[in-house]
Amino acid sequence: MREDSLAARGRGRRIGFVPTMGALHAGHLALLDYARAHCDRLVVSIFVNPLQFDRKDDLERYPRTWESDLAACAGHGVDVVYYPRAEAMYPPGFQTTVSVGPMTQGLCGAFRPGHFDGVTTVVLKLFNAVLPHLAVFGEKDYQQLKVIQRMVRDLDLGVEVVGRPTVREDDGLALSSRNLHLSAPERRRATCLWRGLNRARELAASGEREVARLVAAAQEVIESAEGARVEYLEVVEAETLEPLVHLDRPARMCTAVWLGSTRLIDNLALEPPAEG
Ligand code: PAJ
Repeated sequence: MREDSLAARGRGRRIGFVPTMGALHAGHLALLDYARAHCDRLVVSIFVNPLQFDRKDDLERYPRTWESDLAACAGHGVDVVYYPRAEAMYPPGFQTTVSVGPMTQGLCGAFRPGHFDGVTTVVLKLFNAVLPHLAVFGEKDYQQLKVIQRMVRDLDLGVEVVGRPTVREDDGLALSSRNLHLSAPERRRATCLWRGLNRARELAASGEREVARLVAAAQEVIESAEGARVEYLEVVEAETLEPLVHLDRPARMCTAVWLGSTRLIDNLALEPPAEG
């Protein structure tokens, strides 16, 4: 992989990169299309990274759709599909991890021990192989996006990391490979995340500044869906991910919700109300 990228760089090519775990859907494809339009050589990685799964059952039932992934890549102008084997990524003796500080401790980090170390470690390894100028990530995984941007700044990686908006179904549910695990009734109830986040956004737009009230309103909407269990629901500062008490800065409401045995995440920007 690195030889290919070094050769492309030698020819003056700008390399765009979209890291994925496969099971590609329209959310991934939007990242590919953005990257395609902003580079000369487009690389996609497909690697279900064992290091970032905190639950064995989640890793084992993660969908693998290799044939259709390759077809989607071919249809979206991908030049290189990089799919390392786990044994090549993590050979015997492997013992180095990259760990970003406090911003990985809250939100998903509080409930998925080791998850973000697994993400940052694999993304750094992928960057080292692909040598991208540009890497594109989804806002769907907002904490992941901000953590990667932090790592790139802190370790001087010199990669431009762009975040792109979440692609949603018509009813607002964020596209996710884990949606495949929802039963039909769970799928109908799964709109509760989007509806709850929007309730908070409306309240904020109408002048509510108290985060506790925004959270309570969103939580009420989410928990009105049968069987929905909120794992976390928080408003954090948009860049540092520090919890906010008052909505006085650009912020993000982030949530993780269990529907049966499926865990869904979503987030939405909350703008502080205008003064006066
Ligand atoms: P994966 O879940 O396959 O997601 C790959 C990229 O697609 C991520 O940047 C994610 O935020 C983005 N994405 C997922 N659903 C999206 C949606 N509905 N709209 C827009 N973008 C969406 O995230 C990972 O893989 C891994 O952690 C990875 C970064 C590849 C490291 O292993």
